[in-house]
Amino acid sequence: MNGGDHASLDWIASPGAPIRGELRVPGDKSVSHRAIMLGALADGISEVQGFLEGEDTRATAAAFAAMGVRIEVPGDGKRIIHGVGLHGLKAPARAIDCGNAGTGMRLLAGLLAGQAFDSELVGDASLSRRPMRRVTEPLALMGARIDTADGGVPPLRINANNGLQGIEISTSVASAQVKSALLLAGLYASGTTEIREPHPTRDYTERMLAAMGWPIEFSPGFARLQGGGQLNPVRINVPADFSSAAFFIVAATVVPGSELLLKGVGLNPRRTGLLDALKAMGADITVVNPREEGGEPVGDLRVRSAALNGIEVPVALVPDMIDEFPALFVAAATAEGVTRVRGAAELRVKESDRIALMAEGLRSLGIRVEETPDGADIHGGSFQGGEIDSGGDHRIAMSFVVAAQLAKESVQIRDCANVATSFPGFAATARSLGLKLSIE
Ligand code: S3P
Repeated sequence: MNGGDHASLDWIASPGAPIRGELRVPGDKSVSHRAIMLGALADGISEVQGFLEGEDTRATAAAFAAMGVRIEVPGDGKRIIHGVGLHGLKAPARAIDCGNAGTGMRLLAGLLAGQAFDSELVGDASLSRRPMRRVTEPLALMGARIDTADGGVPPLRINANNGLQGIEISTSVASAQVKSALLLAGLYASGTTEIREPHPTRDYTERMLAAMGWPIEFSPGFARLQGGGQLNPVRINVPADFSSAAFFIVAATVVPGSELLLKGVGLNPRRTGLLDALKAMGADITVVNPREEGGEPVGDLRVRSAALNGIEVPVALVPDMIDEFPALFVAAATAEGVTRVRGAAELRVKESDRIALMAEGLRSLGIRVEETPDGADIHGGSFQGGEIDSGGDHRIAMSFVVAAQLAKESVQIRDCANVATSFPGFAATARSLGLKLSIE
C-alpha cells in the first residue's frame, strides 16, 4: 500500500508587495517527530507544546497510536502522550504509513528493529523512492533483520528481535536520521552504541534523550549510549521551525522594502547554516532576544531587505543548511554574480532531486544554472513568469512562491499539496505578510 499521495494542487504566485509584519512559523518538524517517539517510550505522561500539525508528524503520532500509545490532543499544537515504557509497544495490526516523512521512516526503522514483534513501514510515492540501506545496513550490523524492496527502497519489513548488539561505527553519510536510527536501536541493544559522523548533524535525539534522563555522551559529530534503561516523561516546548522560517527569511531579504520579525525560531547551530550563507552574501539579519527554551537556543530574527552578492557556499556549511538549499537557490538567483554550491549530493535524495528540480525551475524562469553531480552554479539574473513543477516537494513549492514575488509575470507552481507535510497554513501566512498567492 502506498498511502498519503495527494491529488494535484496548483498555486499561482505573482509579484507582490514588500513583506512586512511579524509571525511565528509552525513548530519544528525534527523535534516534533522525536517528541512523539521518545514520549511514547517513556514511563509516564509527557506533554508537548508547539507540536507541528503537519502531515509528516501526524503520521508519526498515528504510528504510535497504532502501537497502543494513547495520545491526547487537547488543542492545536498540544499533545499529551501516555508513554508505555521501552517495552510497552504493541504489534500494529497493519503496515505503518509514514507518508512523505523520511525522518519518520528512518527513525522508526531503528526503534522498531529492537521490538519483539514484526512490523512494516510504507510511504508515499516520494518516500518509496528514497534510499533506506543507509539505515538498514548499519542496523543489520547490530543484528537487526530488515528487508527492503529491490534497490534498497521502502517498504521496510522489520523482523521481531530481542537480541540487538551495540556497535561502534563511523557513518559515511552525515545524516541525523541515520545517527538517530542507530541511537534508538541502541536503547534496545546490549552494550554500547557509539557513532562518529563525517560532519556534525542535528543533535535533537541526543538532547531529548538526555533531558529524559537517559545517560548519553555527545558532542558535535559524536554520540555514545548504553542499552537498557528507562526514559522519564518530560514537558517539551517545540521551537518554531527554522526550515519553515527560511522561506520568509529569503523573501524578506530579496523583496525590496521588506522588514520582517520571525518569532521564537529554533537556532540550533546545526540548523542555521543558511544564516551564515546569506550573511556572507550581504543579507541584513539580526537575532533579537536570544534565549534558551527547553534546552534549545531560540531567538527572534529581524530581516530587512538587502542586495545580495554571489558566493561560494562553504562545503562545511552544507549539512547545517541541508534543507534550505531550495530557498538558497532562489536567493542566489537574485544575487549579483555567481553562487557556487558543491558537496551537496545529498540534495538528490531528499523529497525530490532538489538540484535537478531547482535548476529546471529556475531555468524556466530565465535564470542561468549549471548543474553538477553535487551542486550547481547559479547566475544571478531576473525572473520571468512561467510554469514550475515542484515534483510534489514541499520545499520546492514554497521556494518558487518566494521567487515569484520578484517575477515579471505570474508563476504557476504545480503539485503543491505536500506543503501541508511541513508547513500547514503556509499560503494564508504568506498572504498575510504581503506575498501574492492564489490556489487554482
Ligand atoms: C532530519 C534530518 C535531515 C533533514 C530532514 C530532517 C531529522 O536529514 O534533511 O529534513 O529530523 O533528523 P538527513 O539527516 O538524512 O540529512
